[in-house]
Amino acid sequence: MKNRRILFVCLGNICRSPMAEGIFKHVLKNRNLIQNFELDSAGTASYHIGSKPDIRAEQVCKEKGIILSHKARQVISKDFEMYDYVVAMDKSNYNHLRKMHLGNQLLLMRDFDELVQEGCKDVPDPYYGGIEGFEEVYNILLRSSHKLLDFIIQENK
Ligand code: 4NP
Repeated sequence: MKNRRILFVCLGNICRSPMAEGIFKHVLKNRNLIQNFELDSAGTASYHIGSKPDIRAEQVCKEKGIILSHKARQVISKDFEMYDYVVAMDKSNYNHLRKMHLGNQLLLMRDFDELVQEGCKDVPDPYYGGIEGFEEVYNILLRSSHKLLDFIIQENK
């Protein structure tokens, strides 16, 4: 398949999108496709620029053998030229990105979650909750990553 670049986007770029990047990378390694992809993540907000992922995100991923290494950055218009797919974690991020750009490569992560509740397509923001929220985000992202990868493979045959 063609080489593809994917950017995962949430609000702060310290919880959901660095987890999505790490989990998707893990899935790519398991499916022997890591050489075909370049990944990054970014936030729509500027609050946490330069910060490492939230300690709870790091902890939940580390328990599954996934080491997160990322420094938060804010999404810029040029990202839409650089990346083949821009994947938003929730509807609010999606709408923010839609206003920045009219391209057709914008996706919503939970459109690829088979267990999504009708009407709620958000990867829930775990920042103000406990560790169990991060576990839930992990499970959502793992399920969604497999289906997102299937979709991209199908599109790029
Ligand atoms: P994220 O979580 O968007 O998944 O990185 C958040 C991180 C920080 C804040 C909100 C959400 N905040 O308000 O600082």
